[in-house]
Amino acid sequence: MLKSPLLLSILLVLIPLSSSDPNPPTLAHAELTNYGFPIGLLPVSVQSHTLNQTSGEFFVHLGGACRLTLPPDNYLATYSNKIRGKIEQGRIAELDGIRVRAFFKWWAITGIRSSGDNLVFEIGMVTAKYPSKNFDESPECDGHKSAA
Ligand SMILES: *[C@@H]1O[C@H](CO)[C@@H](O)[C@H](O)[C@H]1NC(C)=O
Repeated sequence: MLKSPLLLSILLVLIPLSSSDPNPPTLAHAELTNYGFPIGLLPVSVQSHTLNQTSGEFFVHLGGACRLTLPPDNYLATYSNKIRGKIEQGRIAELDGIRVRAFFKWWAITGIRSSGDNLVFEIGMVTAKYPSKNFDESPECDGHKSAA
């Protein structure tokens, strides 16, 4: 008689633990995973987003511009208050609002592709490949500036 409730409570404890998916902090992050991208591409400070399911056009509003450090090479990156682009399965194009600092300059990330276990970042014609697992966690913006 006592066995089944005990088993049930053990199962209830185990189920959340056995799920390998990290909990997406917002619906925008969940949307990223629906399209085959890790949640770490967006900082936690997402306030709202819109997505046209037909065209894939999206807008993400952060609570102000955001500066953070991207893994694994600690590139400095900035996110505009408003990020826009076009998303389809495994591909983000016409991206606007994310820039990275490299070779003493700021470069706009124009697209991101998911390729096997890697993410391919497009900076115009140039691409850079990083393991997706580096983006399993949604980063915090440096400092906590409120929107101007
Ligand atoms: C979504 O995209 C489709 C195709 O481009 C367009 O016809 C439609 O008007 C868009 N919907 C909204 C709400 O913007």
